[in-house]
Amino acid sequence: MNKPVRLAILGSGNGTNAQQISEYFAGRTDVEVACIIYNKRDAYIAERARRLGIESRYFGRADFYENHAVADYLCAKEVDWVILAGFLWLVPQELLSAYPGRIINIHPALLPKYGGRGMYGHHVHEAVVAAHETESGITIHIVDEHYDRGTTLFQARCSVTPDDTPDTLAAKIHLLEKEHFPRVIDETIKAWRG
Ligand code: GAR
Repeated sequence: MNKPVRLAILGSGNGTNAQQISEYFAGRTDVEVACIIYNKRDAYIAERARRLGIESRYFGRADFYENHAVADYLCAKEVDWVILAGFLWLVPQELLSAYPGRIINIHPALLPKYGGRGMYGHHVHEAVVAAHETESGITIHIVDEHYDRGTTLFQARCSVTPDDTPDTLAAKIHLLEKEHFPRVIDETIKAWRG
């Protein structure tokens, strides 16, 4: 049997998506979460990784953009695909070159709307509610050198009603993320593997 496809999950915050992805692939022999990387020292994602029994490591800005520490670590961990799950920095060119077409991001809106620098997490939901949009959703896409611009793999929609607040919209979006993100990762890797 082929060796399992190994994923690294990169996050910056709470880590609900990282947990959902890890639980989805737990027990699978063909895909495994090799490690969780985070770039905010006090991020709760580290605690989730600990509970899941998955190796996690903090890396700072220099590790991503200057001293190759993240690239070296991913190489040492024999990572095949990188998953951005609430990761808020631009992916360095070094990683884009090491994983061409093999970095996936989730964005909590219907790109190309409400994307780009500074548009993340709650900021997105605040902007969507302030604009009185009647729908929002999630976009799962391949990562390129721009914020939120790579090829779209999948979108799912939800309604935004006049009584929605950024918090209630965030809850709807999290449900969509839970329902679709692990599955879309799985299907994308299967298609790549052939
Ligand atoms: C998720 O809603 C994800 O879509 C969003 O951050 C949240 C992270 O939550 N990502 C972005 O905004 C990327 N621009 P989590 O840490 O609980 O998974």
